[in-house]
Parts: sequence; structure tokens; C-alpha cells
Amino acid sequence: MTKLSVNINKIATLRNARGGDVPNVVKAALDCEAFGADGITVHPRPDERHIRRKDVYDLRPLLRTEFNIEGYPSPEFVDLVLKVKPHQVTLVPDSPAQLTSNAGWDTKTHQSFLSEVLDGFNEAGIRTSVFVAADAEMVEYAAKAGADRVELYTEPYASAYAKDREAAVAPFVEAAKVARNLGLGLNAGHDLSLLNLNYFYKNIPWLDEVSIGHALISDALYLGLKQTIEEYKNCLR
Ligand code: PXP
Repeated sequence: MTKLSVNINKIATLRNARGGDVPNVVKAALDCEAFGADGITVHPRPDERHIRRKDVYDLRPLLRTEFNIEGYPSPEFVDLVLKVKPHQVTLVPDSPAQLTSNAGWDTKTHQSFLSEVLDGFNEAGIRTSVFVAADAEMVEYAAKAGADRVELYTEPYASAYAKDREAAVAPFVEAAKVARNLGLGLNAGHDLSLLNLNYFYKNIPWLDEVSIGHALISDALYLGLKQTIEEYKNCLR
């Protein structure tokens, strides 16, 4: 079964727009779980412009599904993750000011840095995932660095989908096979949507997890959170 992890950063963005507690981030996460999400993802950034450190601590004891914390492994981020001990940590190469993740790691250049960080999380019993492009070499070096999983950066798939979905998915299938042969688990995320998710899943049915935020929360404006989550889950069957 491919798990659906809902990225709730956009809920926090909406809340922060008014400075109060509406919508409540913890309630939204618990509702996502109640409506069928298999996990919750947060991406606390240093400027706390969406998810705040406090949200991460508030969520931890209440979530019943998988908790995934993603972010750049700065000393502050590593410290937060080790204190909170989520089920999974996903390392992304974002700079602090970046709008959203827009590339995977160069796992070859940064192999020793990643190894050091991953070792700390592995020792703490936290499953690790490294965000990479659909590129065999990047997947191989993620494995060498000691990652449990890779998360494939799916923006290039999503943006090429409408033109030629077969060509768009082909490099992802290849990278996914490399990951499988190396014994790595496989996640995917970025710009996955109701339009493109099922085709991606059908081509890579051994996918462990997808992490989806922007499109899912946007769809919920029209469909409601419950129906939206059901529809995304249907794309993974
Ligand atoms: N995976 C990673 C590593 C991300 O940084 C993001 C965006 O925060 C996502 C998945 C989810 O992307 P989207 O919001 O486009 O669904």
C-alpha cells in the first residue's frame, strides 16, 4: 500500500496570515488522519513562516499516523528532530529563504555531510529519507550516505505530464528501479495532484509514500478536506 502523507504547511500559512489560531493546525492534522491520511508531513523553516517549532512539538503526542518532518539539516533542525523523534525525517537541500523546495540533493558532492547527519538520525531510530531528482547516480549516492529511503522530486514529472505523460514518468520509473535494487524505500513528492497522481502510482506501484500539500489543500477549498483525502487515496489504488 502506498501511504498518503498530507503536508499541512499551507494550513499554517493560512493561520499565520491573521496571527491567531484559525485554522488550528493540530485540529487540521487530526482531521486529515480521521479522513484517511496515512501520515502528516511538516516542513518547519527557520523563519517559521508556516509551520513553527511549537507546532511540531504540539503535533507529536497527538498524531496517530506517521509523522514526517522535512527540512534542511541545520543544527537547529537536527536538534528539533532529535528531540521530537518523528517516524521519519526527510532531508531537503533548501536554503532558508527559498519559497519551496526546487531541487533534490547533489548526494555525490554532499555525501560526507549527509552521512554524518544520517548517522545521527539512524542512531536515534528515526527513519531517514533524502530528497533527490530522478537520477540514478543521485539515488546511488543517497544509499552510500546511509539513507533508508529516497524521496523523488516530482515537479519535473508534474510539469511535463500534460504534454507527454509517458515520457514524463520514464526517468522516475528508472530511478525507482535503481532505488529498489539498492534496497532503498521510495517516497515521492512535489506538485503531485489529482490529475497526475494515479498515473505515477500505476507506473511505480512499489512506492512507499507520497507527500502532498499544495494541490491537496487547494482542492479541499472546493471539495472539502474529507472528500479530497478520499479522492487522493483512490489515486493510490
Ligand atoms: N516533498 C518535499 C520535500 C517538499 O519540500 C514539499 C513541499 O513542501 C512536498 C513534498 C510537497 O509538495 P507540494 O506542496 O507541491 O505537494
